[in-house]
Amino acid sequence: MTTHLSKQLSTGNGHTVPKQRHRLPSRRPLWIIVLVPLLCVLFIGAHVYPPHGYKPCYLFSSNVCAPLKDWLPPLSIRQFTDDELNSHAIIKDILSMQPVSSKTPKIAFMFLTPGFLPFEKLWEKFFQGNEGKFSIYVHASREKPIHTSHLFFGSEIHSGQVTWGQISMVDAERRLLANAFQDYDNHRFLLLSDSCVPLHNFDYTYRYLMETNMSFVDCFEDPGPLGSGRYSQHMMPEIEKADFRKGSQWFSIKRQHALLILADHLYYTKFKLYCKPNIDGHNCYADEHYLPTFLHMVDPSGIANWSITHVDWSEQKWHPKSYMAQNVTFELIKNITSIDESIHVTSDKKKEVTRKHCMWNGTKRQCYLFARKFLPDALQSLTDLFSELHGIKHFI
Ligand SMILES: *[C@@H]1O[C@H](CO)[C@@H](O)[C@H](O)[C@H]1NC(C)=O
Ligand SMILES: *[C@@H]1O[C@H](CO)[C@@H](O)[C@H](O)[C@H]1NC(C)=O
Ligand SMILES: *[C@@H]1O[C@H](CO)[C@@H](O)[C@H](O)[C@H]1NC(C)=O
Ligand SMILES: *[C@@H]1O[C@H](CO)[C@@H](O)[C@H](O)[C@H]1NC(C)=O
Ligand SMILES: *[C@@H]1O[C@H](CO)[C@@H](O)[C@H](O)[C@H]1NC(C)=O
Repeated sequence: MTTHLSKQLSTGNGHTVPKQRHRLPSRRPLWIIVLVPLLCVLFIGAHVYPPHGYKPCYLFSSNVCAPLKDWLPPLSIRQFTDDELNSHAIIKDILSMQPVSSKTPKIAFMFLTPGFLPFEKLWEKFFQGNEGKFSIYVHASREKPIHTSHLFFGSEIHSGQVTWGQISMVDAERRLLANAFQDYDNHRFLLLSDSCVPLHNFDYTYRYLMETNMSFVDCFEDPGPLGSGRYSQHMMPEIEKADFRKGSQWFSIKRQHALLILADHLYYTKFKLYCKPNIDGHNCYADEHYLPTFLHMVDPSGIANWSITHVDWSEQKWHPKSYMAQNVTFELIKNITSIDESIHVTSDKKKEVTRKHCMWNGTKRQCYLFARKFLPDALQSLTDLFSELHGIKHFI
């Protein structure tokens, strides 16, 4: 209750006002001093904060609480700004839209890379025989890649610079989405990097993504310094700390969510301004927080909360495990594909571990369709293995 109240006691410019007033006017009888705030806390708690989700919360003015106004500094009662109202109207409309249907729904494979894509030949093998079910978009931020597979010819979009950890990373993701969205046949939008490789064959991958209405976006609440510790009070009032989420940037989203992201200006701008390296004495990386937070706020049940791209941070180094040619074995790929739980660890001292079964359309399934990070010299071993593993043909 107190945390709810203190959240409410925030002014529009983002500064939290003190929870308690220490000097109370002496002329008021003690019982009023005790009872009225108590009633108000209950009232606010019960009416203003509905359970989690995307619901408007108006603070109803109440005469019971009127005396409080004399004691507290003037409160700016939480009213939505014009921008917020516009944004809510658009989001609501997009979420109520029926999915578009098309004869040949495609998956947009969107590659975010500095330049060269070392695994084009492997992807070519993966795509083989599935023409018409996929499209490829490449955002090359540093140099124009020299392609080794004809499937990638002409796939580059007009790209901008990307600086690691900066909003330009999110801009590149949005640029890819904006390009891919223009093809009505693209129903799923998949973000991959130059070091990502496929784990299953195309048919399995296609059905896994298409036959569920979930978006696979990694999302969890980390109270530690690498999670909510990166939150900035300047994101108030639109984004509260309790809504701040973290997750890996490699997503697969449905068309509806792609449109939500393209249409969003309000929340994006908050992250652009207040989630960046070296702000308020900490570092914030928009690519790890914007999408998880935004989608968690507007459509929490529409996202699976895990990423379908596997990465291994278990060594707890600055970079995840990366695999060279000699690491690529049948056992490694089997190990990764057999994982059926998503694991999140908080970054605070408790290092709390959350394990959740990967639930796909109501049944427990393997979590991962792709994996990273693989180094370029792993191409041959991966290509050989991929052929061998084609045994996993059947979807269920
Ligand atoms: C993802 O997590 C949110 C809570 O953060 C929850 O409301 C939602 O149901 C979860 N999604 C699935 C598919 O379980
Ligand atoms: C990859 O193989 C090398 C050499 O055998 C080994 O030192 C390294 O730890 C392995 N890396 C991983 C991620 O397994
Ligand atoms: C695969 O998983 C087993 C059991 O967890 C582990 O002992 C083994 O080292 C793993 N192998 C590779 C290559 O990751
Ligand atoms: C998604 O599919 C599940 C069943 O698989 C269904 O319960 C849910 O209502 C669907 N959600 C939307 C937004 O269509
Ligand atoms: C997904 O779930 C819905 C309802 O739970 C079911 O009707 C549909 O057949 C399922 N799809 C697959 C591919 O299992």
